[in-house]
Amino acid sequence: MNKTVPVSKKLHVKTYGCQMNVYDSARMADVMAPHGYASSDRVDDADLVILNTCHIREKATEKVYSELGRLRLMKEEAARQGRRMLIAVAGCVAQAEGEEIVRRAPVVDMVFGPQTYHRLPELVIRALGRDGGRGAGVVDTEFPAEDKFDHLPEESQGQGPAAFLSIQEGCDKFCTFCVVPYTRGAEFSRPATAILQEARRLVASGTLEITLLGQNVNAYHGAGPDGRDWGLGRLIRALAEIDGLARIRYTTSHPRDMDDDLIAAHGEVPALMPYLHLPVQSGSDRVLDTMNRGHTAADYRRIVDRLRAARPDLALSSDFIVGFPGEGDRDFADTLKLVREIGYAQAYSFKYSARPGTPAASVADQLSEAAKSDRLEALQQLLNAQQRAFNEAAVGSVQPVLFERRGNRPGQLVGRGPWMQSVHAEAPDRLLGVQVDVAIALGGANSLSGRIVTVDVDPVTPSPLPPPAERVPA
Ligand code: SAH
Ligand code: SF4
Ligand code: F3S
Repeated sequence: MNKTVPVSKKLHVKTYGCQMNVYDSARMADVMAPHGYASSDRVDDADLVILNTCHIREKATEKVYSELGRLRLMKEEAARQGRRMLIAVAGCVAQAEGEEIVRRAPVVDMVFGPQTYHRLPELVIRALGRDGGRGAGVVDTEFPAEDKFDHLPEESQGQGPAAFLSIQEGCDKFCTFCVVPYTRGAEFSRPATAILQEARRLVASGTLEITLLGQNVNAYHGAGPDGRDWGLGRLIRALAEIDGLARIRYTTSHPRDMDDDLIAAHGEVPALMPYLHLPVQSGSDRVLDTMNRGHTAADYRRIVDRLRAARPDLALSSDFIVGFPGEGDRDFADTLKLVREIGYAQAYSFKYSARPGTPAASVADQLSEAAKSDRLEALQQLLNAQQRAFNEAAVGSVQPVLFERRGNRPGQLVGRGPWMQSVHAEAPDRLLGVQVDVAIALGGANSLSGRIVTVDVDPVTPSPLPPPAERVPA
């Protein structure tokens, strides 16, 4: 394919799973843009449809096959109209199931994993060479020696006010329930210079908030420009110096990698937002041990204490798995106890899902669906009550809100406050992409709403943002 091809084809990417997949989907569009493919929201008239999939739980995987059933009909309709629709399965299901996908769903033309999508243009050429869509699909699920980041083109467009930036990939921790080490491969950190350059480009395109991404983002240990290995704390301090970058977040972190410098950064870097997703999975030491998490509940409490000492207003979020093989009533009670002690601003909780090839899946002591459902309900009741209390406690405060999109009601914008809560307010469109103080009037189960108290923009054009020190909460 040649670089001067005009835009003539449509690419539709549907994303499942975590933020890393959201980032990868945007980068797939960047890879195809120079080859004449423009991103489209519509699937029915797309020339190339990519499902960027998630394998984390059984339900996530099953969704892909039902979507492929729907796509088969669209592809047949396209063929009747004389159009060729290519269908690709990317991401973690692709990596885990490979050839099996084309066997089970022959409608699929291409299967490629999270580490090979920089080769997408070649795969498209090979797939287009399939005899009228018949013959075997093209499968590329290697973990190549070359680094995909070295082969990806620069971003073709900005991501808006709040952007994602992948800095670390893969995982070497092998929690006994988890597919990620198999689907994403070994842990790998991008060099700091490449990350800083990408961050500067994002800020130049209008981004005020960057969320650094990695399956184990705080295990980050990339080469620094000074020739030393930088940890996440060091990287965050360097990012905070970028003029115009008002907010920094990172996700997902592992308790084991919460080192001293990173904890200190929470107290010292005003742009580092006071909200942290720090998954604990269970409050039972016995379960944590069989999960191979490498820490106890007491270790986790200590880390949270140290984080809160550094940043007293830090809000926490977590992931929990209920019904892990062998989890008894006492183990589950320990989880509820830990949740009560820590107090979460919000959290995700899941029933354990046995994943093929992971050690926990072959343990005999699996729990019934009913037992898992009961526990999930009890845990979610507690977590929802905590989330509501956290949101209600915001009423009466004034928070800087970065408006990211229009709300459902006309004249309303929605953005996030420092503590990750969605905040709705009546606001003109010109405040999209601007950080504005909002007085919080209502705190609901999932979001806040309020009224703008200061608007530092004149009625015609947005004024330059105030200096970073004035843009962040005390
Ligand atoms: N790297 C992150 C988690 C990535 S997966 C960490 O170590 O915390 C996101 C979440 O999915 C996990 O935190 C876990 O709560 C959940 N999860 C992973 N495997 C699962 C499984 N087999 N069943 C149910 N939930 C699972
Ligand atoms: Fe999965 Fe554990 Fe790695 Fe997180 S740390 S990605 S849960 S194996
Ligand atoms: Fe899912 Fe893969 Fe992310 S399994 S959660 S898309 S790393």
